Parts: sequence; structure tokens; C-alpha cells
Amino acid sequence: MAIMSWGKQNRLHQIIKSDGHTVMLAIDHGYFMGPTHGMEIPARAIRPLLPYIDSLMLSPGILTTSVPATLGGVGWVLRASGGNTVLDPDIDNESLILTAAEAIRLNASAIAVSIYIGAEHQHQTLLNLSTAINDAAQYNLPVLGVTAVGKKMKEKVEKRYLALASRIAAEFGADIVKTYYCDGFEEVVAKTPVPIVVAGGPKLATYRDVLELTYRSIQAGAIGVDMGRNIWQSDYPAAILQGVRAIVHEKASVDQALELVEGLQNDSTRREELYVATAEDVAISSVH
Ligand code: 5RP
Repeated sequence: MAIMSWGKQNRLHQIIKSDGHTVMLAIDHGYFMGPTHGMEIPARAIRPLLPYIDSLMLSPGILTTSVPATLGGVGWVLRASGGNTVLDPDIDNESLILTAAEAIRLNASAIAVSIYIGAEHQHQTLLNLSTAINDAAQYNLPVLGVTAVGKKMKEKVEKRYLALASRIAAEFGADIVKTYYCDGFEEVVAKTPVPIVVAGGPKLATYRDVLELTYRSIQAGAIGVDMGRNIWQSDYPAAILQGVRAIVHEKASVDQALELVEGLQNDSTRREELYVATAEDVAISSVH
């Protein structure tokens, strides 16, 4: 196994804690979806959540406008690929939008690059990942490879496809892979020789569903979650986040975590409904 530089180890530790697990909060959706429901005003939406996360995954513009520069104890993973929007037929036509040097200037713990395996622009997105990894290597900056599915490959969330995509990200040199959970997820983990974090995907119907997704992911060998909509689109974001955290870091069962979440639901933890979601808002935020 390769010996990792001190700089990379330290940056990875800003994401993955001493127990080997991590709770990442994904709020990068605006880079192609704009002011996504629940994340219309990021500074307000994330404030109550910061005490319960290990790191944030976000775009550079939201970091510099919406996260206090005095923030301590939380790492950040900056989105480094993009260049498309939800208004395009698909969202896989991406390039690199952030250099490793700029990420270092922003004190990033890592950068995130999406690959769209099986989509029209898969080749280009794989080259994005490779370029970013070579660029980041100069600074001992870790790279999170994101196996994105976009619109076309959305139905492909099953183990053969996810193992293919995750393994390719690892083969290219990603330090962590972010992918989706599926039946037989142990196999995806076993075939991917770097740590895996699981995305939440579009909002699920119940808190139990979110906790079960988290529990099964951890049981199957994921090191944690990099979850977005199922946290900040829920009615009680800080409550569900603490339930997820209890499973990831405290080995809680689904029932124990659910009890915790239910006990934390009160007026002070209720999500501030700044804008009512229209049917279009809901549809847009489920495109991937
Ligand atoms: C977009 C992303 C998102 O960060 C990812 O989808 C995680 O968020 P969610 O839990 O809402 O799915 O990487 O490509």
C-alpha cells in the first residue's frame, strides 16, 4: 500500500474521523440546479446543521458567501466539476471548474469531481477526473470521485453499474468514492479498493427510510454518508441529521436512531420554510 503524505493524511482526517467514519453534508446541488428547494439561502439552512457534521460538500461560491471564514472543526470538499444546468437535456456535459491551487487557497480538505459512466459524455468526465487527480497530487489534496447518474442513467442504480463506476473512479486514483446505495452493496464496496460514502438521492418518504439507507450502507461497509436532500429538505433537518450521525458514528440501530429523531422534533428544530416548493421545484430537485 502506498505511503500517504502528511498533507493528504491531515486533509483526509478533516473528512474521515478517527473511528474511520464520516458524516458529510452535501449542499453542492445549486451548481447545476440553482436555488434548490430547502437550500434557497444556504447560510440560513446550514447554520443549525454545522454542529452535527464532519464536513461540507459545496461549491466554491457558496463556501465564500455562506460559510463563516471562522468556521472550525468542519472540513470542506469543494466541487471541482460542473458546467451544465438542469435545463439541458442531460447534466453530464461537464468540465473542470476549479483548480487544485484555488482549492488550496480556499483551505479545502478535498475536491469533488463527477463521472457519468454510460452517459453521452462519460469519456470527457473521466478525463476531468484524471486531470483533477494529477493536478491535486501536486498539493497532496484528496479527490472525491462522484459516480453521478444524471437524467439518462438514473435507472441504473444497481450493483453491477455502481461497481463499474466506483471501481473506475478508484482505478483513476480517487481517494474516496461517492456513490448510491443498492441491493448487494457489499459487492460494490468489496470491488472498490478505496473508502465509499453514500449519497442520499432524492427525498425519501419517511425518516425510517433515510435511517435504513444509512444503516444498510454502513453495514455493507460504507464509511459514511454524503447526504443532501434527505437532510435539508426534511421538516426537521437537524433531527434527522443527528439520527444519521448516531448510526454512522455511534453504531445506533435504525430503531434507536428513529427514537432519537422523534425526540428531537420540536418548534426550534423545524425547518424554516422560506419558500413553498412548487411541483416544478420538487420535479427539478429529483432529476438525479
Ligand atoms: C450531485 C451530488 C450531490 O452532492 C449528491 O447527489 C448528494 O446529495 P443527495 O444526498 O441530495 O443525493 O454529488 O452530483
